[in-house]
Amino acid sequence: MRVKIYGAGSIGNHLAHAARSLDWSVDVVDPDPRALERMRNSIYPTRYGKWDETIRQFDPKDQPKGGYDLVCVGTPPDSHIALARSAVAERARAVLVEKPFCGLDLDGAQELADEAAKAGVAGFVGYDHVVGRAARLACDTVLAPGIGEIATLDVEFREFWGGIFAAHPWLSGPADSYLGYWKRGGGASGEHSHATNLWQHFAHVVGGGRVVSVQATLNFVRDGTIDYDRLCLMTLETESGLVGRCVQDVVTQPPRKWARIQGTEGFVEWTCGHAPGVDQVEATLPGRISNVQRVAKTRPDDFIEELRHIEQALASDPARSPIALSRGLDTMLVVAAAHLSHQTGRCVKIDYSKGWVPAALAAV
Ligand SMILES: NC(=O)c1ccc[n+]([C@@H]2O[C@H](COP(=O)([O-])OP(=O)(O)OC[C@H]3O[C@@H](n4cnc5c(N)ncnc54)[C@H](O)[C@@H]3O)[C@@H](O)[C@H]2O)c1
Repeated sequence: MRVKIYGAGSIGNHLAHAARSLDWSVDVVDPDPRALERMRNSIYPTRYGKWDETIRQFDPKDQPKGGYDLVCVGTPPDSHIALARSAVAERARAVLVEKPFCGLDLDGAQELADEAAKAGVAGFVGYDHVVGRAARLACDTVLAPGIGEIATLDVEFREFWGGIFAAHPWLSGPADSYLGYWKRGGGASGEHSHATNLWQHFAHVVGGGRVVSVQATLNFVRDGTIDYDRLCLMTLETESGLVGRCVQDVVTQPPRKWARIQGTEGFVEWTCGHAPGVDQVEATLPGRISNVQRVAKTRPDDFIEELRHIEQALASDPARSPIALSRGLDTMLVVAAAHLSHQTGRCVKIDYSKGWVPAALAAV
């Protein structure tokens, strides 16, 4: 596989390392020469032992175009759509867009989806948790007989974002990046939208369908410059009537990344980082009281697993992947609906027949 990665920052390094671990060729594009230098001399060698001399780096004006199997967009969310559309235009076989998929205006989202479909380019989103081993185990457990009728679903990604700034020592705080601006895809609702996406994924797995109704309360930090939600509490309902809760925040420490699928006869719980380097799936089902399964993994493993998934999906039916482009855009509609619900104090309905556009949302 030939891969081009936009963005030499934190995720660009993870994806470059994951691709190299699979022996794929990697080109990295970033307009900031300091970011390229930091990748070569600091982030990559610190995280993975040493710089990989086979990785080529480019300023955007010198970047190669055409012939890529996968183009990864690992830049700030408000630049994702334009870069993804350019990847479609250069006829990459597939494009992987990092989360959150775009800014909350969803500008260009539907156009990207249309152009990708027309050109036959497969689209993916970087919600890697749903294709991780622990989430797959949780899904298998839920689908095995025993849990009964699904009563409710709860997902929380509650994590103080100090760790993110520790991993970005060149940023002095949220004001220095999209993270401090909810409209650009920052704040708890954007940064921890892994939780919304995981909620939607589990809802699909149990036959609940898409989220059609969102009631939300957010809590903002505003000082005239920064403007982000530090807390996002959502009550979600799907087209089948499944009701549950999703919580995202950037204040909780120690962090809690957790999901629970509650059935009438038992439950399954998924915990990311239950212990250092260990995810856990716990199930209490009839005849299997507190069955605990642990999955040892590192953060780099998550991205290797994600790229492996993409390679396999490309060989079968990419549109059916749980990280297909459509799933990433559905998540953006729910996040945008949460903001509209908070602003209006009303419940927001999502009408998917209108497309991935703000007009799909209506406060009722
Ligand atoms: N899937 C995950 O778990 C995960 C983890 C980390 C980050 N992310 C996501 O990845 C994205 C980037 O985050 P990050 O932490 O790597 O940010 P970062 O600030 O570390 O790096 C972003 C890089 O993109 C570069 N860039 C900006 N515009 C560009 C353009 N037009 N072309 C090429 N490069 C450009 C910047 O110069 C910068 O070096 C965000 O959407 C973030 O949420 C996802």
